[in-house]
Amino acid sequence: DHLELVRDLLSRMTVAEKLGQLQQLSWNSATGPGGGETEEIENAAREGRLGSVLNITGATHTNALQRLAVEESRLGIPLIFGLDVIHGYWTTFPIPLAQAASWDPAVAERDGEVSAEEARSAGVHWTFNPMMDVCHEPRWGRIAESAGEDPYLTAVLTAAKVRGYQGPTLSADPRKVAACAKHFAAYGGAEGGRDYNTVDVSEQRLRNVYLPPFKAALDAGVATVMASFNTVSGVPAHANSHLLTEVLREEWKYDGMVVSDWTGVQELIAHGLAEDGADAIRQALGAGVDMEMVSTHITEHGEKLLAAGAIDPARLDEAVSRVLLLKARLGLFTAPYAEESAEITEPGAEARRAARETAARTLVLLKNETAANGASVLPLPATAASVAVVGSFALSTDLHGTWAGPGAARFAATTVLEGLREALPATEVLYAEGEAEAIAAVREADVTVVAVGEPSEISGEASTRADISLPEGQAELIRQVASVGKPFAVVVFGGRPLTMEEWIDEAPAVLFAWHPGLEGGHAVADVLTGKVNPSAKLPVTFPRSAGQIPLYYNHENTGRPADPADPKVPFRSFYLDVEHGPRFAFGHGLSYTRFETGAPVLSRTEISLRELGEGGSVEVTVPVRNAGDVAGTEVVQVYVHDRAASIVQPVRRLRGFARVELAPGQSEEVVVRLDSEDLGFWDNDPAGNYRVETGAFDIYAGTDSTATAHTTLHVV
Ligand code: IFM
Repeated sequence: DHLELVRDLLSRMTVAEKLGQLQQLSWNSATGPGGGETEEIENAAREGRLGSVLNITGATHTNALQRLAVEESRLGIPLIFGLDVIHGYWTTFPIPLAQAASWDPAVAERDGEVSAEEARSAGVHWTFNPMMDVCHEPRWGRIAESAGEDPYLTAVLTAAKVRGYQGPTLSADPRKVAACAKHFAAYGGAEGGRDYNTVDVSEQRLRNVYLPPFKAALDAGVATVMASFNTVSGVPAHANSHLLTEVLREEWKYDGMVVSDWTGVQELIAHGLAEDGADAIRQALGAGVDMEMVSTHITEHGEKLLAAGAIDPARLDEAVSRVLLLKARLGLFTAPYAEESAEITEPGAEARRAARETAARTLVLLKNETAANGASVLPLPATAASVAVVGSFALSTDLHGTWAGPGAARFAATTVLEGLREALPATEVLYAEGEAEAIAAVREADVTVVAVGEPSEISGEASTRADISLPEGQAELIRQVASVGKPFAVVVFGGRPLTMEEWIDEAPAVLFAWHPGLEGGHAVADVLTGKVNPSAKLPVTFPRSAGQIPLYYNHENTGRPADPADPKVPFRSFYLDVEHGPRFAFGHGLSYTRFETGAPVLSRTEISLRELGEGGSVEVTVPVRNAGDVAGTEVVQVYVHDRAASIVQPVRRLRGFARVELAPGQSEEVVVRLDSEDLGFWDNDPAGNYRVETGAFDIYAGTDSTATAHTTLHVV
């Protein structure tokens, strides 16, 4: 049906109308430089010279513009409206990096569902999300939009997000939106973490680290893909036919649409690849970009390039078909308008509940020391007569985080102070502004919560930091609080891992809260008071010093690795002036209860290449027990290390995990299945060569990436 419609339209379209379908313009200039000529957009819509608009929202606004395209243009082809709905539209969920800390695909899926319903009701058909750039760089502001440093965890979380946005398949369901796998590819590898910077990456690293989440998103049916701003081994992604055509189309058989990033086509000139705008679009279209966002080279130069034979007319038709097919699959030809009377205009009670519950699952308890009397600071004791809440985030509503939707400007997030006052009605909750007053409150209270963090404006796109410690004065406040000598917990907000060396040894308890969204204050209070037992785990390594970056758990070994027992033995791989290793490892996160995991047990200790090739697998069973006295959830993690391979393998790689909820004293056995996808790797062949090799594999299991319990699997 859809193909028939597309074929029919193509046969009737002029060249200008075809080129127009490949043009996307921005209604306002919110998400990049330039853009936002509304009159030009209206004229282009009327004249059938426009395929898509981004950054227009609201049922009446989108309908008014849609009407020009549908009712006044010659062929009446509807526009598709796109927006960055990254972690919520009205209802802001925690930032994606926080969602990854839940290690719970249901969290990502729920955000996707709520966001899709709210956005679609406001006329938005398409979100530029999920972002799935694996990233070893906490200095990079966009790590906030990512799922962290691990390809496997990123793939699981982002595929779930795709399902949340689109449902099982892209359809005309008016509660769903098309998703976009971005940024293709390796944007997270920007040198020095500086945004938009060069990426020079081997084929094997590209395929083993950066590409797996994209493949998983495609398998989940993602409707669109966005090219990334960076170069990849000397060729900007926007003109990279290896990525956009050889891998995406020929190898993966992807038949959806590829959109450029904001002026990404134009930027081929600044990169030093294209001579001018005409050359830029010629190269981008030729490499596989279908739709041009914001810069206008396709509509400006397309006719001339076609006439000169510089654009293949079949390639033009292919790109146009993909745009039309996307619109058809979304039902825009039959239902181009948003139902104005059904527009959702605020976060509903159910959506708020989802935001609160999911946020509580993302908060990572980094540290919670037990005092001499056996008590920990957290959860806050129910018997406390008074709690002081101090620090610049105590009363802050800046909890929505980067790339929050329109809800951030309209609906204030609950603050930590509000959350705690609601949660502790019988306790006196003191708040004081200014350091002297704060310290006086700390002296007076039984226990203190110091809420500190990184404001959202220094997280996100183009917000690279060289120093990733707490901004000004906050470390000093923590030290002052510590000097009072009473129990306190630090709650840290941020869009990235932050370094904490200046103060962490003086803080008995630390909860990392990311940017937790609209219901942030409630979720933080739920965890601080023990209503919710924390279960989140770091999706990214927390370094001790920015000088250690890149620091990630799944690195290759050197020929001279530091000896963990004595890391500063000379002529080995370490920094002279910082303690070896991370402050907090990937996968780390504490609970108010205590879990014990046993050594992993294999269903068989040997498997042949032939069996693996035929879909055979090995089961890893890991016993886990709640040895504490409150109910809780543990994330049991299984890592694989191929001891010797023709391409050296990471010291360990996450290949499976399970969240298990256990009552006190309860035990369970977690089972993770390993097959050829878990035991092999891509080599450096640009045509894509996946290898599983014989040899010994260490299988580690435990509650973070430093787990020592292991067993051995032999592939023969
Ligand atoms: O989707 C974004 C992208 O991630 C960064 N540049 C702008 C796009 C559209 O707003």
